[in-house]
Amino acid sequence: MVRIALIPGDGIGPEVVRAAKDVMRVAAEKHGLDLTLDDWDLGADRYLRDGTTLSPEDRDRLVGDYDAALLGALGDPRVPDNVHARDILLGLRLFADLYVNYRPCKLLVPALSPLRNPDPATDIVFFRENTEGLYAGMGGSFKTGTADEIAIEESLNTYKGVERIVRAAFEHALATGRTSVTLVDKANVLAYEGGLWRRVFAEVGSEFPGIDRNAMYVDAMAMDLVRRPQRYEVVVTSNLFGDILSDLAAQITGGLGLAPSGNINPQSWALFEPVHGSAPDIAGKGIANPVAAVACVSLALGHLGMEEAAADVDDCIRASFEEGVTTPDLGGTATTREAGRWMAARLLDAATG
Ligand code: NAD
Ligand code: IPM
Ligand code: MN
Repeated sequence: MVRIALIPGDGIGPEVVRAAKDVMRVAAEKHGLDLTLDDWDLGADRYLRDGTTLSPEDRDRLVGDYDAALLGALGDPRVPDNVHARDILLGLRLFADLYVNYRPCKLLVPALSPLRNPDPATDIVFFRENTEGLYAGMGGSFKTGTADEIAIEESLNTYKGVERIVRAAFEHALATGRTSVTLVDKANVLAYEGGLWRRVFAEVGSEFPGIDRNAMYVDAMAMDLVRRPQRYEVVVTSNLFGDILSDLAAQITGGLGLAPSGNINPQSWALFEPVHGSAPDIAGKGIANPVAAVACVSLALGHLGMEEAAADVDDCIRASFEEGVTTPDLGGTATTREAGRWMAARLLDAATG
């Protein structure tokens, strides 16, 4: 039996997770998978109700009793310091050591790109380091709230942390027949971390002689992702740069409404989540695009070894584009529920037809 914990979360999270759940149920039925889906009440409502962000007991059960989790989004204007999101999302990334943040950005429909002449071959996979860097929470503030305030946020980079994400990127390139890996950093200014990342990149990369190595500065990379994204196959980068560049790459391949991600420890547990957030500006309106969450279902099923079911989910997403059943962010008129139900029904039709 495969057990998946659903954490709908905040804002549009519950809206898109509902669609993902429908699709996942149909995929399980069609492929005869013994799948258990449990909803978890974690997020801003729970925090505001009883002060719980993520208790040690919940954390242990999530990681111990489930094969994987699917999270909608966390972030709510009623919790301005975002403490619950950091405790839950960053907490799980650290606790389960989910060091790979896998973020594929493939241009499925060129017309959905805001670029003038998008190359249909655009297909980039980001390997974002997910446990270190500027996300380590190392720092502090002094004389807080005064005119003399000092705030320090330090970037943590360990040899172990850099080596394992760089290796994961090269191994993925090799396994998927990709021919290049690009390192993105700011080694011209951030010399200490840059030195470590570049040395490890060369060292690990030399074990993969058939794979080209490029190193790019993050400012030039942001520009080049808009100019010629088709040049990039696998990108490996630090936590913050990966966070920023994966939103950019999502937009050039159709928008945040489409982009899935996996927080993965290749040896144990994984948590899947759309790249997008809780989108308070559209929450409750029923117009959020559920495709990113549904694409997370595909990533999760593939990760758990259910490749056929994953491919089927990808097919129903593609079909929704072909048939024009899309939400307003893609120019369509479907609601989140309609788009989700359409994809689930399509999957079911394909089973019986
Ligand atoms: P956001 O990703 O929530 O929204 C950015 C823009 O994209 C908004 O205009 C939004 O309407 C649009 N958008 C996002 N997802 C969409 C979808 N599925 N369909 C259609 N349009 C969509 O980013 P933000 O506004 O900077 O952040 C809002 C909150 O979400 C913040 O609290 C932030 O910390 C949080 N956040 C959470 C996650 C997560 O839980 N994984 C990720 C990113 C941001
Ligand atoms: C993401 C989000 C998170 C991050 C936030 C909500 C903590 O932006 O998953 O991309 O910065 O990693
Ligand atoms: Mn982000």
